Amino acid sequence: MNSLEIKKDTKLLIADWDNTLFGDDNSLTKLKELLSNTNIQFGLGIASGRNIHSIIEMINKTNFLIPEILISSVGSEIYVKTTGELLYTELIEWKQHLADGWRRNKIVNSLKDVDNLELQEESEQMDFKISYNINEKTDIEKIKQKLNEHNQRVKLIISKNKDMDILPERSGKGKAIEFLIEKFSIPIDQLIVAGDSGNDEDMLTIGANAIVVGNHSEELRKLKRNEKIYFAKAEYAAGISEGLEHFGFSKSQRVQ
Ligand code: GLC
Ligand code: MG
Repeated sequence: MNSLEIKKDTKLLIADWDNTLFGDDNSLTKLKELLSNTNIQFGLGIASGRNIHSIIEMINKTNFLIPEILISSVGSEIYVKTTGELLYTELIEWKQHLADGWRRNKIVNSLKDVDNLELQEESEQMDFKISYNINEKTDIEKIKQKLNEHNQRVKLIISKNKDMDILPERSGKGKAIEFLIEKFSIPIDQLIVAGDSGNDEDMLTIGANAIVVGNHSEELRKLKRNEKIYFAKAEYAAGISEGLEHFGFSKSQRVQ
């Protein structure tokens, strides 16, 4: 049985990896210190576009804190830490939840003749995630139209004008987090989310304390209208530290 206990007074920080936590080593080290030295108890989650193997490899490489939760492949899979340092169990019920009405092959076929649209490498294609490389000439409206014609109700996510992911409508980082909130009864005010680009938008808008780092990409600019979202000036992990301070979650440890 997978379990995750979020105690009262504990905060859960769920952050994107590339260009949010990761991108500036010095800032990441400082954030690690902040999370370890504050008198607030933190749990950590990573929500990334990367596949699970790649996330674990990065955590290992950077020697960052060990997360309790890994949301991989843009929310297509959820893993919860079991025992041991880097051992995780997949939440199979999440996949069962995504399967309803999802016709992967039909979607791939319906888009196979679109210009300037190229499937990403095999390792990025998951049961519940189809990923493409796009460029400035890719006709997104035409893609939406084709999906509509084929009656495919999906979530289409553009990140940095170079990646396009197609997911089941009920998937994405935000929906995955909402599933966790429900399953493990996590109070939303104990949750902090942080991101930088298009695939983070739906988790930044679930109503949790949200941080957008200074080096965010243009597709997130529209979230500036949302008062619950803090736009940090600092970049990468330093932006997260700034956001934690803004929300009052970075009190330093009392002198013993
Ligand atoms: C990561 C994934 C890629 C995805 C992108 C945007 O780079 O590897 O498949 O398209 O995130 O979500
Ligand atoms: Mg990112």
